[in-house]
Amino acid sequence: MPQIETGPFEQGPLTPVEAAELEALYAAAFPEEDPFPLVRRLHEEVPDLVSLKAMAGETLAGHIIFTPCTIEVLPQVRRPKPDPDAAPSSQATPAALLAPLCVAPEHQRQGIGSALIRAGHDKLRSMGTTHVLVLGDPAYYGRHGFAPGSNVEPPCPLPEHWREAWQWLTLDPSRPEPNGILSVPAPWRDPALWAE
Ligand SMILES: CC(C)(COP(=O)(O)OP(=O)(O)OC[C@H]1O[C@@H](n2cnc3c(N)ncnc32)[C@H](O)[C@@H]1OP(=O)(O)O)[C@@H](O)C(=O)NCCC(=O)NCCS
Repeated sequence: MPQIETGPFEQGPLTPVEAAELEALYAAAFPEEDPFPLVRRLHEEVPDLVSLKAMAGETLAGHIIFTPCTIEVLPQVRRPKPDPDAAPSSQATPAALLAPLCVAPEHQRQGIGSALIRAGHDKLRSMGTTHVLVLGDPAYYGRHGFAPGSNVEPPCPLPEHWREAWQWLTLDPSRPEPNGILSVPAPWRDPALWAE
């Protein structure tokens, strides 16, 4: 098995070579979805994006993104219809949204996904971000400390049976999770990303 190394993508738009490699990786890992247009937009539009790759030798074997967001503390806790366009409040708390994550099928079950999550968490800690949110399989993310029952509403309403998939993690247990709504940058505001 080749040695796996994780490292960051440069800030800003992807180069044509990076885009081609990532597009092929996502097509292989997600045969029934196409997250790559979102990946491209995030690179183009979001400053301070945490975009990490895992290399197996010269081959791109995995990728993860953490998008910098804020938790907006709203006057009414648990609003029935979260407003992702709510104006930032002075009480905003930095947070990160984990997604997407993928590992090439031939490199799965070698610890690459776990290594990418750990590397991302280390980077977030260095940025002073301690709250992480994810919409994903609890069976996988639960292994990494994520749990359902977040006090933070997702930016768009979720199907009821996805509530358990909306999970949170704090990288600093001394800082409790605030109540609020996750305010996300534009590429994440498409309701289709939050629905079946
Ligand atoms: C999910 C994914 C990122 C895991 O990457 P990975 O490098 O294989 O993960 P790791 O090697 O760190 O961990 C593998 C372990 O997680 C388990 N696992 C993988 N996906 C899982 C899931 N959805 N639910 C529960 N366990 C899962 C594996 O069975 C394996 O268990 P084992 O250690 O007992 O053998 C990878 O399988 C993938 O890219 N899948 C397709 C895209 C995807 O679903 N992305 C996540 C979107 S939420």
